[in-house]
Amino acid sequence: MRLIIMPESSSAMRLAAAEIASVMTSCASPVLGLATGRTMEGVYGDLVRLHQKQGLDFSQTTTFNLDEYVGLPADDRRSYHYYMNDLLFRHVNISPENVHLPDGMATDLSQECAAYEQAIHQAGGIDLQLLGIGDTGHIGFNEPPSPFDTRTRCVTLNERTRQQNAAMFGGDPHKVPSQALTMGVGTILESKQLLLLALGRAKADIVARAIEGDVTPQVSASAIRLHGRCTVILDEASASALTEQTRRMADFQTR
Ligand code: F6R
Repeated sequence: MRLIIMPESSSAMRLAAAEIASVMTSCASPVLGLATGRTMEGVYGDLVRLHQKQGLDFSQTTTFNLDEYVGLPADDRRSYHYYMNDLLFRHVNISPENVHLPDGMATDLSQECAAYEQAIHQAGGIDLQLLGIGDTGHIGFNEPPSPFDTRTRCVTLNERTRQQNAAMFGGDPHKVPSQALTMGVGTILESKQLLLLALGRAKADIVARAIEGDVTPQVSASAIRLHGRCTVILDEASASALTEQTRRMADFQTR
């Protein structure tokens, strides 16, 4: 695992965007796994800037998002479809047919999940999977406990996750859908590279558990340590609960 600690959240987001851009320019037909949430907002802002100012080309890129709420249509402002269109897709030259998110409105959710796995497989697998980390230690919506061989499936969200995500739902955790479709931990681990980004003091304790604690289905983000090509980018605030020993392993970058 490569651990990089940046002084500020802005430089951490910029570095994550640069890592994504580097995979995009080194693959003829890049396949990106994407995440949503507050952490990623600045990353997508930077990718849009790279497209507009430096011509970063999305025309050959295929994307697969990690997750979507069950019961929210794509045009609902609180859905992850809407988030991705709003922050990234409508600003860049990506082909709509190359964009994939699980459909939380599908009538047969199991079939939707199986088709999603199949589509990832048909695209040749994911070159780089971007990940955030939730308060429960989830990656995607893999709430504890999520065995490391889980595949794309329908899950029940942890109450803590519904609280974490309540802001988009008028601050009421009970208005956050109780179920979501998510790639499994096993699906995520099959990506060729992983890139986890965490920002802010609120993430410090769960980041330390994921990086320094047991590798366990109780903290699904700990699974990334089993992957041979995994980068973790933190800002100083989210790295603040790490031990000195872990910090000695890290690259510190000054901008
Ligand atoms: C979202 C996702 C989640 C988030 C995590 C952190 O697609 O997969 O795992 O990355 O909940 O969310 P934020 O960034 O809002 O703290």
